[in-house]
Amino acid sequence: MSPSVPEIHARPTARVPRRLRQEVERILFTEDQIAQRIRSMSRGIVRDFTGREMVVVSLLNGTVMFLADLIRNLSLPLRLDFIGVSSYGAGTESGDLVFTKELRLDVRGRDVLLVDDILDTGKTLYQVRDRLRVLKPRRIKTCVLLNKAARRVEAVEADYVGFEIPDFFVVGYGLDFAERYRNLPFVGVLHPHVYARAAQPIKPTRPGKTRAQG
Ligand code: PRP
Repeated sequence: MSPSVPEIHARPTARVPRRLRQEVERILFTEDQIAQRIRSMSRGIVRDFTGREMVVVSLLNGTVMFLADLIRNLSLPLRLDFIGVSSYGAGTESGDLVFTKELRLDVRGRDVLLVDDILDTGKTLYQVRDRLRVLKPRRIKTCVLLNKAARRVEAVEADYVGFEIPDFFVVGYGLDFAERYRNLPFVGVLHPHVYARAAQPIKPTRPGKTRAQG
């Protein structure tokens, strides 16, 4: 872990809203903490990309909030595009990657900032980076809000990391569990009973996207 990347801050005053207390155990990063961290990350990115042909490539869907806040802090000319990718699998483990939207912009010779919400096993970032390399960008830098190094399977690290986190099941600020909780303005820890229940189907169901990270 880079020494400049903050880990968990104990913030006992940040209370989970009453309506969510059955599902969200605690708040890991408040709206304010996230905003502050994004501002400081952005300064480093602006320094590194100034004078370059910058293309921000963001992975759908989890980056929705992080991306919106990040690019508003990037005070330099940039182009923006998206890649749709999802890991589908049974239980709470990541499965195979499915690409749902391809990149439209030409990145040849340009400097790419690849944005994701969380770096977990690394399977997503690893495969997407490989796919991008074929398009011959000048360089690819990676940026994630959360890094869960304990679960890494692929040898991939991000160049810019918002927060280092332990192996908690986190939701909110774009991150989901079974497509829920993306709209929470904070990052919180999901109560184990929520995903334990989902991992034990009572009746046959369509295989859902219930990866470990939500
Ligand atoms: C999540 C997350 C990352 C990826 C990280 O995406 O947004 O892209 O998993 O996991 P990994 O490092 O183990 O590959 P998901 O497939 O759940 O889609 P989503 O962004 O739509 O939530």
